[in-house]
Amino acid sequence: MKKNLFVYYAGEHEYDPNNAYGHFMLNKKFLGKYAFAFCQLPENNYDKIEMDEKAGGRVYFNGKPVPYELEKSDMDWNGYWILTVNMRDKNLKPGETYTIRVEGFRTADGVEMDPAEAILHCTAPANDAYDPKYEKHDSAALDVAREGIVLLKNDGGVLPLKNRKINVFGSIYSVFYNQSGGAGSIFPRFSYDFVEGLCKFGGFEFNPEVEKLYRENPDAVPTEELLQRAETFSDTAIVTISRGTSENIDNESVPGEYYLKECEKEMLFAVCAKFRKTIVILNTGYQVDVRDIIGSGACGVIWLGLGGMYAGRAISEVLTGEVNPSGRLPDTWGLDYGDFPSSKNFIETRELVSKGNIHRTCVTNVYEEGIYIGYRYFDTFGVPVAYPFGYGLSYTAFSARLVNADYNGEKLTLSAEVENIGGVSGKNVVQVYISEPDGKLEKCAHRLVDFGKTRELMPGEKQTLEFSVDNNFMSSYDAGTSSYILESGEYSVYLGENINSLEKVYAFTVENTVTVKKCHHYCLPKEKFTTLSKYDPEGTYPTGKLSHYETDKDSFDFAKNSRDTHFEDREIPQYNGDTIFYTDLEKNPSLIDKFIGQMSVPELARLNVCAQAWSMETNGVAGAVYRLDKYKMKSFLTADGNSGLRLSKRTVGFPSSNMVCASFNRETAYTVGRVIAEESVEEKVHFSLAPGMNLHRNPLCGRNAEYFSEDPLLSGIMAGYHAKGLQDNGVGAVIKHVIGNNAELCRFRSNSIIDERTMRELYVKNFEIAMSVVMPDGIMTAYNATNDCYTGMDEELIMGIFRNELGFDGYVMTDWTSYNTCDPVEAVRAGNCWLTPGSEDNTYTKPIEDAVADGRIPLARLQNNVKHIVKVMLKYTKKFEN
Ligand code: BGC
Repeated sequence: MKKNLFVYYAGEHEYDPNNAYGHFMLNKKFLGKYAFAFCQLPENNYDKIEMDEKAGGRVYFNGKPVPYELEKSDMDWNGYWILTVNMRDKNLKPGETYTIRVEGFRTADGVEMDPAEAILHCTAPANDAYDPKYEKHDSAALDVAREGIVLLKNDGGVLPLKNRKINVFGSIYSVFYNQSGGAGSIFPRFSYDFVEGLCKFGGFEFNPEVEKLYRENPDAVPTEELLQRAETFSDTAIVTISRGTSENIDNESVPGEYYLKECEKEMLFAVCAKFRKTIVILNTGYQVDVRDIIGSGACGVIWLGLGGMYAGRAISEVLTGEVNPSGRLPDTWGLDYGDFPSSKNFIETRELVSKGNIHRTCVTNVYEEGIYIGYRYFDTFGVPVAYPFGYGLSYTAFSARLVNADYNGEKLTLSAEVENIGGVSGKNVVQVYISEPDGKLEKCAHRLVDFGKTRELMPGEKQTLEFSVDNNFMSSYDAGTSSYILESGEYSVYLGENINSLEKVYAFTVENTVTVKKCHHYCLPKEKFTTLSKYDPEGTYPTGKLSHYETDKDSFDFAKNSRDTHFEDREIPQYNGDTIFYTDLEKNPSLIDKFIGQMSVPELARLNVCAQAWSMETNGVAGAVYRLDKYKMKSFLTADGNSGLRLSKRTVGFPSSNMVCASFNRETAYTVGRVIAEESVEEKVHFSLAPGMNLHRNPLCGRNAEYFSEDPLLSGIMAGYHAKGLQDNGVGAVIKHVIGNNAELCRFRSNSIIDERTMRELYVKNFEIAMSVVMPDGIMTAYNATNDCYTGMDEELIMGIFRNELGFDGYVMTDWTSYNTCDPVEAVRAGNCWLTPGSEDNTYTKPIEDAVADGRIPLARLQNNVKHIVKVMLKYTKKFEN
C-alpha cells in the first residue's frame, strides 16, 4: 500500500494572476489554470502515483465546490496525474488570499489521499505601486522593450496613430504575453499589459463594445453590425494575435500556434475589409504564419514579441510615435512553416502523443539541412519570405554610406556614415554582410559579419559607425582537415538594411587559403548523412527519413557511454598541513592547490554535486554549492534569469531574449546583464544561469524566445554582451545549453545529429563568439544528446572543444536532473563539475566515491572539477557578505 501521498503545488504560494502562463509549461492546455500533481512526498523523489480517475474527488475554491479536470498528463510532467482548476474565471484581486482544497481522491489501488490545500497569496501589485528604489532598473526594462519592437509594415504612414480612439480586436484582453514560460520567465515588480499600457501612457480610448465582446469570448468573430457601430466609434482598428511559448514544450505547426486559427482569420479579414486604418499587433514569442495578415491588406504590422514588465507602455509609445521603432528581426519569417528545411526533421509533439508514452520515447532529429538554417537557406536558394532576417522599418528614413574600408589580411575594418534623412528622430541599424568564394567548401550566399546601431539621430544628423571583423568570423569549417579556413578568392562586402536589401561597398581578395584555427575531429556523428547543398538542391533537400523516435524506452542505449577520447588532468598533490579555510584562500588564492589537496574523496564528491533542488533555499534559487563547514565555505547560489531574476521575490522584468536581440544593440544586451547582476548581488545570488543562447534552428522550438537568433554571430554577440553585463557587475554568467538544444520535445531523451561542419560553424560557433566578448564563468550542458552522446557526459565536448580548443576555464554544470537520463559518474569523469540540482544526502555523491575507488573516475578529474568551482567562487564571494 502506498504511503505519504502528496499533492504537489499544495502549500502556501504566491500567485500572480497577471502571469498568463499558469502551468502552461507542463502542458499548453493548462494555460491560466492552477495545477496539482499527485505524487509521493518529496523524500520519495516526487514519485508519481496512479490515480483512480473514475472515483474522482472534490475541489473547493474558498470553500465553494468548483469544477476541476483530472488527467494523466500526456505531456510533461513525466506522466503525472494532474488536477487543474481554472483561475481565469475567478476574478482574483491583488492582496487577497485564496484557498483551493483538494479531497477525496483515490489512487488506482484504492488508497484515499489526505486532503491537501493550496493557499494562494495573490500578489500582483498595483501598477502604480512601483518602488522608486528600482526606478532606474525598471526604466531600463522600458528602454529595452522600446528598442526591441519591430515595425514590419506601415502602408500610407498609418502609424504613428493620430486618433486615440481605437477598436481593438482579439484575445489580447485576457491573454497578454509579456514573457516566456520556464527558466526565461519573469516575476516582475509590476507590469503593464496592452490595455493598461495604452490607456495610461497613450491616453487611448478603447471601444467598450469591442472590448466586452473579446473579454467574454477571446475567439469572437465580429458581426457586420458590430463592425458598423465600431466604425462610427473610430476609423482605426487594431487586430491582435497572441502566442505564448515555453521551455519544456515546443510549439506546433497547427492553427492557434504557428498558424492562425479560423476565427482569427475571419476576424482579420472582416476588420480589414471594414476599416480604413488597420494595424496588426503580433504579441508572439516566435515567428507565426503572416500570409493572411499580408493578404488581408492590413496597413500596419508590428512584432511586439514578449515585451517584459513595460511591454504595454512601450507598444503604446510606438503607436503614438513617442518612440520611433528601431528593432530588426533576429529571424527570418518564412511564408510557410514547410518552407523551413529544418521542418522536415523537427518531430512535433502531436505525432508522438498519438503514438505512446511521451516520457518513454527517445527522439532523434537529424539536421539534414546542414548549414542552411534561417536566412542562410532562404537567401542562398532564392526562396521568398514574408519578412527577411534583419528587417524592420522606422518612422524616419536613413542613408548609410561607406566612408572607409580595409582588409589587412587578418581583419576587415569599415566605417559607414549614417544620416537621418527623414522628418523625425530615430535610431538606425547597419548590418554588414559578406559573400565568400566557393572553393573546397560551398558557402551560403551572404552572411552577417557585424552590425551596429546609431544613437537617436535628429533629422539631418549624422553618425559614423565603425565595424571590425577578424578572419575567424569570416572563416568556414573544413571537416576534412578539422580546421576553420578562410578560402582563397574574392570576398564582397555589403552594407545592408536586411539580408534582402544589400549594397556592395567593397571587395578584397585572399590570395592563399588561410588556416584560421586548427581543431580536432570531436563529437562526430556515428553515421554519415547527406546535407543540403546548393549544388544539388533537389537531390539533397531534407527528406526527414532519418529522424525517428523509439517508444517504450527510458533512455538511449548510449546513455552510459561517453566518447573515445580522454583527457588527462594533473593530479593535485595531497596536502596534510594545517587546514586551509576558504577565507584563507580568499586572501591568498595561490593556496588553491593545497585547498583542494587537503580534501578527501567524499568531500570532493560533495562539492561536485549541487546541494539544493529548486526553491529549497528560501528565496527560490535553483542551486547552491554545498557549504563544507570544515573549510568554512561560503554561500554560493545560482538562479535562472535571461530576463530577470527568477526568484520567489519580485524583480526586474525585461523582454525575452529574442526581443533583446531584435534591438541589434550591444548596449541593450549589456544593460540587461548589468541590471540583472545588480539585483542578483542584492539577493546574494552569485551565478546567473543565463544567457540561454541556442540557435533558432526551427521556428517552433519552445525556447526560441529565451534564445536570441537564427544567426550565430548575432546570437553570440548579443548573448556575449548580456554575459559581460553580468560579469562586469559582480555576477558570473552561465551560457547554456551546450550544445544542440534546439527542440524541447522529449528534451531528456532527444538526440541532435549534426554533421561536423554544421556543428562547428553554427552550433558551437555562437558560443565561441559569445566567449570572444567575455569568457563566461560557467557553461551548462544540455539535456539532449548531440551526435549519440549526452552532452552532460561528453568528454570531447567539455574537455576537447570547450576547455582545450575554446579556452574555457570556468565551471561546467549539467542541466537540472540530467542524471535521470544520462550517467552521473560518466558526467563527472567527462569533466562536468556540478551535477544539478543534486541533493544534500549521498544519492549522487556515493556513486562518485565508488567510481573513484574503482578507477572509473580519476582522482585528478574530480579534484580539477572542484578546483574550477572554487576558482569561480573566489571571483565572486568576496563581494557578498556571508
Ligand atoms: C532548464 C535550465 C535551467 C534549469 C534550472 C532547466 O529546466 O533547462 O535552463 O537553468 O532548469 O532552473
